[in-house]
Amino acid sequence: MSGGFHNADFPMDDQGRTYHLMVKRGDVANRILTVGDTHRATALAKYLENVHKVEASRHFITYTGHYHGTPLTIVASLMGYPNTDFVVREFRAVTDGPLYFIRFGTCGTPDPNLRIGDLAVGRDAAGIIRNPDAFRAPQADPRAYYHITLPVPADQTLYNHMLAHLRANHPDVVPRIREGTALSGCSFFSSQGRPDSHFTDHNESMLTRITTEMPHTVSIEMETFHLYDLADVSVGHSVHAFGCAMIIAERSNKNFVTPAEKERLVTAWGIPLLDAIAAIPIPHEEEMHGPECC
Ligand code: URA
Repeated sequence: MSGGFHNADFPMDDQGRTYHLMVKRGDVANRILTVGDTHRATALAKYLENVHKVEASRHFITYTGHYHGTPLTIVASLMGYPNTDFVVREFRAVTDGPLYFIRFGTCGTPDPNLRIGDLAVGRDAAGIIRNPDAFRAPQADPRAYYHITLPVPADQTLYNHMLAHLRANHPDVVPRIREGTALSGCSFFSSQGRPDSHFTDHNESMLTRITTEMPHTVSIEMETFHLYDLADVSVGHSVHAFGCAMIIAERSNKNFVTPAEKERLVTAWGIPLLDAIAAIPIPHEEEMHGPECC
């Protein structure tokens, strides 16, 4: 049991554990797969050896072990901007050297040509942010209720590595990879254009707006933009990010994934992604860690 946390700006306990994920030095590797739920993290952690698990009371679970001999972390990073922020900042605080975050999430797609089971890959990512002030002011422009940010590109080197590795080693899955813009709403409902008769959301035209203003959009979810945004502002660009998500919702016809299909997709995409993550070249990796790391 921890004896309490110190430093209100970045709380840590006496053992150097972070407040939300409860990780300390040695608990996190430099190659990280982040997934949205604990079930997916646990299913994929079965492919690691020598696993060390850190479970926080807020349901973040961090598994670190070896994937075919390479140190690798799988984290249940849960959903949305704040949880993405906890994971990136708290992992950064307890590690040295470059960090490589690969997000493997779930998403909807506004594109009627894409299908449940495809993997939507974010060449870049933009945010859709609800603007509360607009709901309290007389508005002429319906676009004022939601701000769509400028896109932030993926880390180019990491992006090229991931795609090249998938193409070279998993040609069977390649036809179902869909590259384009990842849009990250600040919520699942209002900013993603889901109608809700219990609230005045002014979001009826959101899907039309997305297909008109952001025609290369392949996914709508809640995390990738913040991941790319944080990587872009990381000091010395020490954080590298790549985001992809399996499509579980076809927004144009309201189809939604079945539980059995979702279960199948976890490993169908998860294993190729783990292979590609383990192959990420990290400069001077041998010199980076002391003997006790991971
Ligand atoms: N996650 C989201 O944020 N939106 C979807 O439509 C599906 C998964």
